[in-house]
Amino acid sequence: MNLPAAAVLLLTLVTVSATHISLPFSPARTMTRQHKSVEKLLEPSRRNQERPQRPNQTFPKPNQSPNRNSQTNAKTRDVYLKNFYNKLYFASITIGTPEQKINVAFDTGSAITWVPSAHCPSRRLLHSISGITKEYNNESSSTYKANGKPFEVSYGAGTVAGYRSQDNVAFAGTTVRNQIFGEAIIRPKMFAGSMNDGILGLGFSNIDEGEEFTVFDNMVIQGLLPAPIFSFYLNRAGTDDPDSVLTLGGTNPDYYNGDFTFANLTAPDRWQFEIDRIQLSNSKDFALSKCQAVVDTGSSLIVGPSNEVDALNKRLGAKPLQRGDRKLYTFDRYQLNSLPNLEFIVNGQKLSMTSRDYAAQFPGMRSGQFYSGIVGKEFQRGETPVWSLGFSFMRTFYTQFDKGNRRIGFAKASSFIRIY
Ligand SMILES: *[C@@H]1O[C@H](CO)[C@@H](O)[C@H](O)[C@H]1NC(C)=O
Ligand SMILES: *[C@@H]1O[C@H](CO)[C@@H](O)[C@H](O)[C@H]1NC(C)=O
Ligand SMILES: *[C@@H]1O[C@H](CO)[C@@H](O)[C@H](O)[C@H]1NC(C)=O
Repeated sequence: MNLPAAAVLLLTLVTVSATHISLPFSPARTMTRQHKSVEKLLEPSRRNQERPQRPNQTFPKPNQSPNRNSQTNAKTRDVYLKNFYNKLYFASITIGTPEQKINVAFDTGSAITWVPSAHCPSRRLLHSISGITKEYNNESSSTYKANGKPFEVSYGAGTVAGYRSQDNVAFAGTTVRNQIFGEAIIRPKMFAGSMNDGILGLGFSNIDEGEEFTVFDNMVIQGLLPAPIFSFYLNRAGTDDPDSVLTLGGTNPDYYNGDFTFANLTAPDRWQFEIDRIQLSNSKDFALSKCQAVVDTGSSLIVGPSNEVDALNKRLGAKPLQRGDRKLYTFDRYQLNSLPNLEFIVNGQKLSMTSRDYAAQFPGMRSGQFYSGIVGKEFQRGETPVWSLGFSFMRTFYTQFDKGNRRIGFAKASSFIRIY
């Protein structure tokens, strides 16, 4: 992307952050992500179907697979990620033979991997895919196998839909063979200017209902990784931090200090766990009690139920700022040093974020002004409120996602010299 284009995108993101605080595959709506077919999308009466209760996914045993590679291929693999203004972390993967390069963001909140398709059966559906986007063309790949089954996934910014195809996916120095993925022919406009062309899902697919194994599942099944674990180190833009790293197959001790605090998963198909309590380091009389949370790479900040977020921000001394239908909170720079730590008690351990970790500054803000990076969301009646811990949390805590043991682990991310 050239510079003027980047500047335009930046402005878009600033506007977006003020109103939604979200990425194209936004968290705020992660909870309503549903997989539906293209046909159902076109059939309004059936749009709001209940998500069926899924059984827990038991991880496939690598040694049950006839396709498995030799054990020497099983080692942890680091994927270096580019950080776009703390709002998006992405990397290149390739699909097909010869390899077609495509930029993807990694999403812990969804399972399918999709890339823009060069094959657009209908001009009417083409509106959103254009310009700098890289596309996959099945006609120029010798390892492509047709599948054709439709896919659809809903994100905050809208719906991505198309059909499934099968091909080799290569990244992290290895090749996942015969991966089923989505070729997108409908994509929300917002993706058109984004640094990532597609999304690689690191969530849970429903094998029992005929969904395919995820890219990560297939890496394990094909013997490419020593363990069904992946971990993120996310750096801070504008600092001397080393590059961000997604480690596949385990953890990379270069990027964290101390022991992991583990929490078992509390939902069958999400990276969801229980927080015992959310508190502030200086207020003995203030605490938010037991709640559910997901660690979500679709979110740049921390999102929680509005009433609790309001109480928390008030207690922090943040000033409310109405932006459209969204209430945000701001701090002045002089406040930052005296703000308490935000503490999450998980499995009896304290995970503590300083104001430097939870306050957010966006390009274009008045100098010396910061947003509180704790943002409210209204939950529907009957919907379980779930906190989304996004990039700001993950920059503070190196996070491992352990699919085999159905747990998630947090350790203090290594701190490098920071410039503010
Ligand atoms: C590419 O995929 C589309 C949709 O499945 C299909 O119509 C087309 O024939 C495919 N191309 C090849 C070379 O198979
Ligand atoms: C987490 O799950 C494991 C295995 O099911 C169990 O042994 C352990 O006690 C659980 N830990 C907590 C804190 O519930
Ligand atoms: C699925 O996992 C959750 C959380 O670990 C557990 O409470 C539940 O009993 C499990 N359900 C089944 C069907 O194994």
